Amino acid sequence: MVTRDRIIVGLDIGTTKICCLITEVNDNHELEIIGFGVSESKGLRRGLVVNMEQTVDAIKHCVEDAERMAGIRIDDVYTGIAGGHIQGISTNGVIAIKGDEITPTDKKRVIEQAKDFAKPASMEIIHILPQEFAVDDITGIENPVGMAGSRLEVMVHIVTSSIAAVSNITKCAQKAGLGVSDIVLQQIASAVAILTPDERKLGVILIDIGGGTTDIAIFDGGSIRHTAVLALGGDHVTNDIAVGLRTPIAEAERIKIKYGHAIAANVSNDEQIEVPSIGGDSVSTVSRRILAEIVESRMEELFKLAYTEIRNTGLADQASAGLVLTGGASPLEGVTDLAESILHMPVRVGLPRGVKGLVELVRDPAYATVVGLCLYGASKSPYTYKPKGPSFFERILQWFKGIF
Ligand SMILES: Nc1ncnc2c1ncn2[C@@H]1O[C@H](COP(=O)(O)OP(=O)(O)OP(=O)(O)O)[C@@H](O)[C@H]1O
Ligand SMILES: [Mg+2]
Repeated sequence: MVTRDRIIVGLDIGTTKICCLITEVNDNHELEIIGFGVSESKGLRRGLVVNMEQTVDAIKHCVEDAERMAGIRIDDVYTGIAGGHIQGISTNGVIAIKGDEITPTDKKRVIEQAKDFAKPASMEIIHILPQEFAVDDITGIENPVGMAGSRLEVMVHIVTSSIAAVSNITKCAQKAGLGVSDIVLQQIASAVAILTPDERKLGVILIDIGGGTTDIAIFDGGSIRHTAVLALGGDHVTNDIAVGLRTPIAEAERIKIKYGHAIAANVSNDEQIEVPSIGGDSVSTVSRRILAEIVESRMEELFKLAYTEIRNTGLADQASAGLVLTGGASPLEGVTDLAESILHMPVRVGLPRGVKGLVELVRDPAYATVVGLCLYGASKSPYTYKPKGPSFFERILQWFKGIF
């Protein structure tokens, strides 16, 4: 029998799809998939809700499918947020220590102090991610509690979001009959499902290429150093194909997935593809290389923007573990080679992991965020800790607990 408080649900409200993943903490303290549903998303633009009714309908639809598969009703979900309004700021907090040693209260107080920075009234803080502490002259401390010193400093990465964007996501979930346990930055959720602890420690860059947005997160020394959201994704490639080849959006999408290539020079000029016309009454033949040229120019723009963003942080050289691509648009043929040539680092495509059960359902980079949302929820559950360990899953959870 399913115990309700062992149920953790992720709801990823994306620009092209909305998906609901129901997981249960099993007797081995692992997270097991028991239900999954996906529906088409039409109510979002560039990661933001623009049509509430359509979004609520799509949420209800995928939640019902997932509930039917799991054979249970769900109440609360962990959901994500993205969009151009998201800002990541690295800042610090400093306090004086009065006692003999640093207490957990001092640790909380210095993090509170770091929150005290000028932000517009329309923005709210969604994450405070401590990176490291410094006690007097000693830097690079992971946990300062118990140490002696007179000055405690914390370096943090703060993620802010538009208050309206958070409220719209919460309202959509509520109108679909769901409570929101927490809202997580989408690339933080994806990161936990995709990156290994070693990659995060060595330094790694995660790029989640979705439909309407591309979400970036940079990790080093186990902590998040930088986050950014680019308002560009796979749907822009589809639009370019529709305009360039004069074909309907749905055909452009199908052609992109079947024949798209990110490096035109690697596609033979002789290979021909059939392209239906906009009216649907004729079909023309086009060289696949022309298609690849359209795809390449948009993907090149995307990776160049990402490169500028990453270069400007000064953290690019620290990413010894390279770049990991995920998100629905990452399986595009030739994408890793193109990314390697523009970002000058080794690139791999990451699939979500860390869950058990019906894993085949989510073995696609498009589901990195929803799997990560469940793992995030699991890090808050008292049922996920085994007395003996640490397993791969526990290491993920420990890391998550540590950063939040
Ligand atoms: N095999 C494929 N090759 C290339 N692109 C693909 C492939 N499969 C899906 N895509 C593209 O992936 C994109 C959708 O990705 P994803 O499902 O991660 O987006 P989303 O989560 O709905 O959107 P966002 O995160 O931007 O709000 C679409 O643009 C789609 O065309
Ligand atoms: Mg997404």
